[in-house]
Amino acid sequence: MEKKKVVGFSFGRKMSNTEVMIKEALLVCEKAGMEIQFIRCDDLNIHICTGCCSCVAGLMMGKGRRHCIHKDDDFHIIEEALMSADGVIVGSPTYEFAPTGNFKVVCDRIGPAHDKTFRGPAIE
Ligand SMILES: Cc1cc2nc3c(=O)[nH]c(=O)nc-3n(C[C@H](O)[C@H](O)[C@H](O)COP(=O)(O)O)c2cc1C
Repeated sequence: MEKKKVVGFSFGRKMSNTEVMIKEALLVCEKAGMEIQFIRCDDLNIHICTGCCSCVAGLMMGKGRRHCIHKDDDFHIIEEALMSADGVIVGSPTYEFAPTGNFKVVCDRIGPAHDKTFRGPAIE
């Protein structure tokens, strides 16, 4: 049987609290027989969403989920890991009573156009 894959996304500092907790959880998954991947999101260069809605319009017109004006950043690393995962573990420090700004940037970039529900062979 094919191994289930779990991806851990950390928005904390390198080897600090968030990262250590996510890695601990991933090790448990690995021991349970799952494939694991860890991504330190703050190491990536992710441009902010401009709100142009090109991804949503593209999706509606059948252009697929990769229709985004940003072509030259690292978002594809997050996207590919997310789409290949059976489960995800996400960790963000609390900054001013909320998740970090980088966490929100990634959430904005994922948006409805990257929702797995919308994916299918025809819109790869
Ligand atoms: C700008 C900033 C704002 C913070 N705001 C909060 C907060 O509102 N509440 C809280 O409990 N901790 C707050 N913290 C503490 C961090 O959440 C805490 O140090 C966390 O462990 C950092 O995660 P990391 O070690 O994985 O990077 C703040 C830290 C920073 C740098």
